[in-house]
Amino acid sequence: MRDSSFRLVLGIESSCDETACAVLEDGRRLLASEVASQVDEHARFGGVVPEIASRQHLAALFPLLDRTLAKAGVSVGDLDAVAVTRAPGLIGALLVGVSAAKALAYALDLPLIGVNHLEGHLMAARLLEPPPEFPVLGLVVSGGHTALYLIERPGEARLLGNTRDDAAGEAFDKVAKLLNLGYPGGVAIQQTAENGDPRAIAFPRPMLDSRQLDFSFSGLKTAVRQHVSGRTLAPGELADLCASFQEAAVDTLVAKSLQALRRTGLRRWLIAGGVAANRRLREKAQAAAKRNGATLYQLPLALCSDNAAMIAAAGWQRLVDGARDGLTLNAQASEDVF
Ligand code: KG4
Ligand code: ZN
Repeated sequence: MRDSSFRLVLGIESSCDETACAVLEDGRRLLASEVASQVDEHARFGGVVPEIASRQHLAALFPLLDRTLAKAGVSVGDLDAVAVTRAPGLIGALLVGVSAAKALAYALDLPLIGVNHLEGHLMAARLLEPPPEFPVLGLVVSGGHTALYLIERPGEARLLGNTRDDAAGEAFDKVAKLLNLGYPGGVAIQQTAENGDPRAIAFPRPMLDSRQLDFSFSGLKTAVRQHVSGRTLAPGELADLCASFQEAAVDTLVAKSLQALRRTGLRRWLIAGGVAANRRLREKAQAAAKRNGATLYQLPLALCSDNAAMIAAAGWQRLVDGARDGLTLNAQASEDVF
C-alpha cells in the first residue's frame, strides 16, 4: 500500500491516567490532539488507582473522539487507519483503548496498528520541525519507565539500558508524596526547587560509576526519606531539598546519556516522556549536548506528557512499513523492547 493510503490516521492512547485522541495527516501534520486528564480523580488517593482509570477511560473516550474529529474538521468516514497504544501500561486502561480501536477498525473496515507506548514517546519527535535524523540515542523518561535506546531508524530500536527499580518520574512522584507536595509530583518538585540551592544537599548519583547503562532511582528516593525523617522542614529547606533531589536525578539522566553517546559513537540525542518536560533537565541536557558536540532533540511540553499524537505518528510509520494488526490485537501490561 502506498503512503497516501494513510493520509488520516486516528491515534488513541489510554495506557495510564490520560485518555487521548489525535488525528494526524500524512504522518506529520497534526490536525487535532485532545487529552482528557484524570489527574483530579486520582490526586486524592496520592497515585493512579487502576480500576478508577479504566472506568474514566470508558466514560471519556467517545466524547473525546467526537471532539477530536470536530477539531480536526473530519468525520470518522474520512479516516484511513487507526493506531492505538497496546503496551505497556495498566491492563484495564489499555483494554479500553484497544477495544475501541478494534471496534472502529472493524466497523469502518480500516487498517489497525497497535503501538508500544514508549516507541510512541520517542516517535513524537517525528512531529518536530525538522524531524530527527537517524541513528539517534533515545532517552525515555516517564512515570513508568527510564530507558535508553539506540534507534537505528524508525521502527528499529535496541534497548541499551533500563531502570532496575523506580522510574525517574516515579521517583519525582514518590519524593513529592513524601514531602506532601501532591500528585503528580514532577511539576510540584520543579516549582518548589525554583527557589532552592541545587548544591545544598549532596544526594547520591546512582549507578554513575557503573559501566552499565542501567539506572536506579530507589536509592535516591531512600536518601531523601532518610534526610527528612523525624524533621520538620522550614520553607527554605524544602526548596533546597527539592532542588538537590532534582539535581541528582537530572545529573544521573544526563551523565548516563553521555556515557551512551560515547559508547555508541552516536552524535544525536532525543529525550522524550513526561519527565522530559522538566526545566532543569532541559537546560542541563542542552548544555551537555553543546559541550559534547551532539545534536539534542527536545519536544514541546504537550508532546512530552501522554498524548495520542505520538501514537498516531508511531503507528503511521509502522503502517507505511507494512505492519498491520488483526482483530486479535491484545493489550499487554509490560513490554520495554519493541
Ligand atoms: O509520560 P508520562 O506523561 O506518563 C507515563 O507514561 O508515565 O509521564 C508522567 C511522569 C510523572 O511521573 C510526572 O511526575 C512526570 O512525568 N513529570 C515531571 C514533570 N512533568 C511531568 N517530572 C519532572 N519534572 C516535570 N516538569
Ligand atoms: Zn507516557
